[in-house]
Amino acid sequence: MNNIDDKMKTLISQEKLEKRISELAEEISRDYAGKELHLICILKGGVMFMTQLAKHITNCHVSMDFMSVSSYGNERVSSGKVRIVKDLDESIEDRDVLIVEDIIDSGRTLSHLLEMLGTRNPASIRLCTMLDKPSRREVDVKVDYVGFTIEDKFVLGYGLDYDQFYRNIPYIAVVE
Ligand code: IMP
Ligand code: MG
Repeated sequence: MNNIDDKMKTLISQEKLEKRISELAEEISRDYAGKELHLICILKGGVMFMTQLAKHITNCHVSMDFMSVSSYGNERVSSGKVRIVKDLDESIEDRDVLIVEDIIDSGRTLSHLLEMLGTRNPASIRLCTMLDKPSRREVDVKVDYVGFTIEDKFVLGYGLDYDQFYRNIPYIAVVE
């Protein structure tokens, strides 16, 4: 493994991050009050964010499913085409769906995914991301809930990886 322990600096502390995630959960709870909300986690990056978010959602009945996609080409530059590595277990037809993602960069993965899931006739489909890097956007995606907007820097932790490691770090770090 490529060790980058000495190059990591805290960008968003666990306390700040989790406070903001609770606020997002409150907003979501208001928007979906009385409804059934189907959360879709985009693996693997979205997993820690989704579990933390879900714990703070109230006023609606929550169900969960998981999906894994990979973009063709290398990890840092998104090609725009996505391949389903693991599809959803359940149908999303007539359900109120909220996609939960770790970070939106070029927007290509999500734009493709939204298009694909839209054809399965959900009642509604919205997008929630922990982090957003709008300066990197190449295709337009409508993001409904954003945790933090960050600059164009490589970040890791709280689900985000560096060569598949560091996902377990409980805060967001930046690599210097
Ligand atoms: P895009 O929006 O299609 O360009 O791709 C977003 C995906 O790229 C995310 O789901 C992450 O897996 C990955 N990604 C983008 N920026 C970072 C980063 O700073 N750290 C770790 N992964 C990243
Ligand atoms: Mg990733």
